[in-house]
Amino acid sequence: MDRISAESITLGKSSPIEGWTVVMNRRKKRRNKDLPKSGNPNPPEVQPASVVDLEVNPERESRLLQKMMLYIKKVETSDFYSTFIHQIGSPEVQNSILRDLNGESKMKMVIYGIGSIESYESPRLQLSLAILMKKSLGWIGDVEVFDPIISLTESRVMETLGCSVLSVNEEGRREAVEKVLFFMPHCDSDLYDHLLETNWGLEKLKNIIILGNSFEKYEQHALLMRNPDTLNSRKHILAAMKFTKEVKINSVLDAFHDLSWHSFHIIHTHLLQLSSIQSVN
Ligand SMILES: C[S@@+](CC[C@H](N)C(=O)[O-])C[C@H]1O[C@@H](n2cnc3c(N)ncnc32)[C@H](O)[C@@H]1O
Repeated sequence: MDRISAESITLGKSSPIEGWTVVMNRRKKRRNKDLPKSGNPNPPEVQPASVVDLEVNPERESRLLQKMMLYIKKVETSDFYSTFIHQIGSPEVQNSILRDLNGESKMKMVIYGIGSIESYESPRLQLSLAILMKKSLGWIGDVEVFDPIISLTESRVMETLGCSVLSVNEEGRREAVEKVLFFMPHCDSDLYDHLLETNWGLEKLKNIIILGNSFEKYEQHALLMRNPDTLNSRKHILAAMKFTKEVKINSVLDAFHDLSWHSFHIIHTHLLQLSSIQSVN
């Protein structure tokens, strides 16, 4: 689970989302296991299970559902959400990320690495955002979720909220035979790399939109570290930088910090880039 240096404060009227965690010191935060660790000032409200928790408990489920409904409402009425929706409608996102969107067909949203919505605030905020996107954006179709740590209670609540919870760990290797939006909030870099590797070709990369950790940040970090293992585990991310369009999400909220929209614009001069890495397909 993500451990970051942040602080819960009650915010004023103009705050992004009242009373919720905002990034207070960006230098100390950690986005994935490859970055330096810091202590977690926000211990989980409920300890996440080390093995998947299969308890069936209607009261626990109902409490979590109510909590989620509250979070969805709060996100919906936040400054963050109006800015986010406004950005989706902007020429920048419309022309570089959502280009080729066919008005008739819906795009599936696959969510990897949401985390425990019962234990942590960030996963609740992130799931709320996904549910609101599905509600307000006509082009989003079915929503599928997978995280190996999701408990049965969390899974049932997510299903009640309209998501399908997958039972198979794809390790991020979903083949994009049609357009898919991958929402991967703060996943480890391996998962993004697996996704790119599986779809490493002209046609399939065009089908992918990723809302996830900034690839530019990954590149900067990898170039700084020069660690062969890091460079190797991110080789598709790094190679894709030549044809990645990235648009950053504007948020001071920890849950959405460092997230960007990404899409892949491949032209003939990039074909060499594609073939320089051995594809698994
Ligand atoms: C750094 S945490 C991020 C959690 C949450 N989204 C957040 O921002 O706090 C990464 C998450 O990825 C999940 N994960 C690990 N392997 C995965 C896989 N193969 N497919 C989907 N999720 C995975 C972990 O269980 C963990 O919840």
